[in-house]
Amino acid sequence: MAVLQSLRDLFIAADPRRADVAPAPPTVYEIRPLTKKQLREVAKLNLRCFARGENYSRHTFTYLLDNPETLSYRAVTPSGEMTGFIFAMMNPDGAAHITTIGVAPEHRRRDLASRLLSHLEDALRAKGVSTVVLEVRLSNLVAQELYKRRGYASVQLLKNYYSNGEDGYLMTKSLI
Ligand SMILES: CC(C)(COP(=O)(O)OP(=O)(O)OC[C@H]1O[C@@H](n2cnc3c(N)ncnc32)[C@H](O)[C@@H]1OP(=O)(O)O)[C@@H](O)C(=O)NCCC(=O)NCCS
Repeated sequence: MAVLQSLRDLFIAADPRRADVAPAPPTVYEIRPLTKKQLREVAKLNLRCFARGENYSRHTFTYLLDNPETLSYRAVTPSGEMTGFIFAMMNPDGAAHITTIGVAPEHRRRDLASRLLSHLEDALRAKGVSTVVLEVRLSNLVAQELYKRRGYASVQLLKNYYSNGEDGYLMTKSLI
């Protein structure tokens, strides 16, 4: 029984959506633009943030970083380590779509996702974008909590939205 429990704990701990890792020593963070120079680093961090099947490929990051309609930012420590990232694409209809956001497990719950969202929203407002949309898995209660706290509201249930058949919520926020 104890062996089964240890195996179970091993697999649960391997889910990067869980932040049950030792917190990093306290530090300060800066939000900076994320460019193609950080492709390798963001692709690596994304693997630590998302479970297999939920993460973006390096190819997708290359596509996003090459696209002039993409806005992308990273959180960095004074030593230059990337601890979080956010990507959004501006649509021709004046709305923007947040495509991904992630924070390194050992740096979570330090307001980094909130700061990345806030920074992105300010940049979108400056470009005249009036609405932000995003999708979130029904099972991702942590992200839903973050978005609700930041003023996003669920407007639609997206049946079978994800490749594993999971439903999602479409959430939106007005920037006006
Ligand atoms: C979701 C995620 C980006 C949040 O990053 P974060 O930097 O820890 O978030 P913040 O510290 O800015 O948290 C802001 C608020 O979100 C909510 N929140 C964040 N983590 C939470 C948790 N583990 N449990 C409950 N609420 C949580 C809280 O309301 C929190 O405010 P509080 O700390 O004052 O209570 C991070 O957990 C992550 O990278 N998860 C894996 C990737 C992912 O799921 N991305 C979203 C895809 S849609």
